Amino acid sequence: MKIGVFDSGLGGLTVVQAMTKCIRGAEIFYVADTKNAPYGEKTSEQILHFSLALTQYLIDTHQIDALILACNTATSAAIEKLRKRYPSLIIIGTEPGIKPAIAQTKTGKIGVMATPATLQGNKYQNLVATLSLDKNIQMFEQACHGLVEQIEKGEIDTPQTNEMLEGWLCVMREANVDTIVLGCTHYPLISETIEKIMHHKVKLIHTGDAISRHLLALSSQKGHHNVGDIAVHLYVTGKINIKMVESILDGYASLSFVKIKEP
Ligand code: DGL
Repeated sequence: MKIGVFDSGLGGLTVVQAMTKCIRGAEIFYVADTKNAPYGEKTSEQILHFSLALTQYLIDTHQIDALILACNTATSAAIEKLRKRYPSLIIIGTEPGIKPAIAQTKTGKIGVMATPATLQGNKYQNLVATLSLDKNIQMFEQACHGLVEQIEKGEIDTPQTNEMLEGWLCVMREANVDTIVLGCTHYPLISETIEKIMHHKVKLIHTGDAISRHLLALSSQKGHHNVGDIAVHLYVTGKINIKMVESILDGYASLSFVKIKEP
């Protein structure tokens, strides 16, 4: 099986990391669109344009059988258009895990960290509306301006990143938030820093494992036998922190690093 995956940068590798634990007999073609990152600070028209171009590139160049939008922001802006345009392709997106957060919270206080574009998008607004939250649930939404850039730079636990997180998370900590939804695939890369700032009294929710299981179920229906090796080929439209790539995928995948022009 050939699986195309894209994100604005390193974040989608957290989804690939989950995929390498349960998918076999597959090649993953991962595009990090770092030239256009961060997506979360762009308009939905721009994000749609990038997503359509990357998908076309993955289909034309790598003949993919499945597409994973390993990016909440791109899912919000583009998944409906992509499903209409490519009806026979398996297409799976990434959405903030509000449902599992509601199932797990004990205090009823849930934090949601995401990019500005994801929180403003209709998809997120509709997701929250359809869950018709009962009055015991209180949501604390935080658009994390600039956080993706920090992560791309490898600033995982630096004073500046800590200061940004402290500014956003102190409200959640004081309000007894016990569950935080990581609504951007970059944020699992700073899980430990977030946990430290929340005094280790928080459960973090991200959806890489759920996406991988969903992919396995859909591809098995189409005849995929989940046996053999898994390889990850990485393509990048701009610069990337290769040390971080290696540390995220360490030991799970063979890596070929090819720099491509923007599709
Ligand atoms: N990793 C992406 C997400 O899940 C987007 C980050 C960005 O480029 O702003 O939303």
